[in-house]
Amino acid sequence: MVTGGAGFIGSHVIRTLINNHPDYRIVNVDKLTYAGNLENLRDVENASGYRFERADICDYNRICEIIDHYSIDGIIHLAAESHVDRSIVDPFTFAHTNVMGTLSLLQAARTRWEALPDGYNGKTFYHISTDEVYGALPADGGFFTEETPYSPHSPYSASKASSDHFVRAYHDTYGMPCIITNCSNNYGPNQFPEKLIPLFINNILHHRPLPVYGAGLNVRDWLYVEDHARAIDLVFHNGRAGATYNIGGFNEWRNIDLVRLLVKVTDRLLGRPEGDSLPLITFVTDRKGHDLRYAIDSTLLSRELGWTPSLQFEEGLEKTVRWYLDNPEWVGNVTSGEYQKYYETMYGSRKNL
Ligand code: NAD
Ligand code: TYD
Repeated sequence: MVTGGAGFIGSHVIRTLINNHPDYRIVNVDKLTYAGNLENLRDVENASGYRFERADICDYNRICEIIDHYSIDGIIHLAAESHVDRSIVDPFTFAHTNVMGTLSLLQAARTRWEALPDGYNGKTFYHISTDEVYGALPADGGFFTEETPYSPHSPYSASKASSDHFVRAYHDTYGMPCIITNCSNNYGPNQFPEKLIPLFINNILHHRPLPVYGAGLNVRDWLYVEDHARAIDLVFHNGRAGATYNIGGFNEWRNIDLVRLLVKVTDRLLGRPEGDSLPLITFVTDRKGHDLRYAIDSTLLSRELGWTPSLQFEEGLEKTVRWYLDNPEWVGNVTSGEYQKYYETMYGSRKNL
């Protein structure tokens, strides 16, 4: 079971699993919020082992039903509210989905798996989390390691930290085989255009302002989404139960430098003169509680499981910009809710199983 498989990272995870393990039965459990779009999976939706179940992870009974029906023996949990700015406006929704939803999923897996003759044997509950749980680093040095104490600042990171604690509690209390990975900022195709990179590509395309928060000096560590999906496949199959692994690309960028590079690449691909869109950069009021710097040390994952990122940043950025420029109707339909309406009609009242 992959939860949140219709979202940005989840759709890449499902595609990676289908490609790498064609014999698997994979059930995508997704509520299809504003951020979830089955359009992201159009190219793999007819794969023989793939099924979609529209369900809310907070709906305990329905999740139990799905676990039983498909004899689920592994869960990769990505379903979440994921945007920091939304969490600042509406923290309740983040606590509900990210904390209560994760708890409901853990409890459903526990009760169903404990009832089986072989119990937890061969089962895995894998939670996809974020580096934001560790708080913020100073500008001049240091990395988050797996031992860094949790110190979340935003309602989003507080909700993810809380859900990580519940996952560990299920491992420590009930012996459930659980794994957590904490990853840095992802970028790539199919990311909802409210996050920095896709929002700015779309704004450059339409000659709209590029709202850089504060002075643009905050630092993020960027990883191409397919490299993250590959790491997830590897950890799901080879990670140690009870372990935490950090995932990151050793690829730190100050926001302002990233935005200048993005302008350069996008202008070039649009055939505009170099620097044409730089005047669109607009410094706006800073995000409340804006974490200064994230930087991940992913040495443990490389050492234990041999994972390293495959793409250079400029290469990944160019692939990403190209994808957004080639798919303007995707951007239009996700932002207008057109796909939402379409799938509402298809799946609104239908219960699969
Ligand atoms: P996203 O917002 O693009 O997708 C989230 C998906 O979860 C959507 O398909 C949505 O419909 C689904 N969902 C939301 N609430 C649900 C519910 N109650 N029941 C079932 N499905 C529900 O998010 P993303 O960027 O793909 O992130 C996926 C996961 O990875 C999240 O847990 C996030 O915290 C984590 N993560 C993201 C990043 C990043 O840079 N995007 C980095 C590290 C970790
Ligand atoms: P974002 O993509 O929202 O990811 P996160 O907050 O999870 O790191 O933002 C990345 C960085 O870009 C972050 O420092 C906030 C900044 N930012 C802007 O300056 N302007 C924007 O419009 C957005 C969405 C983000």
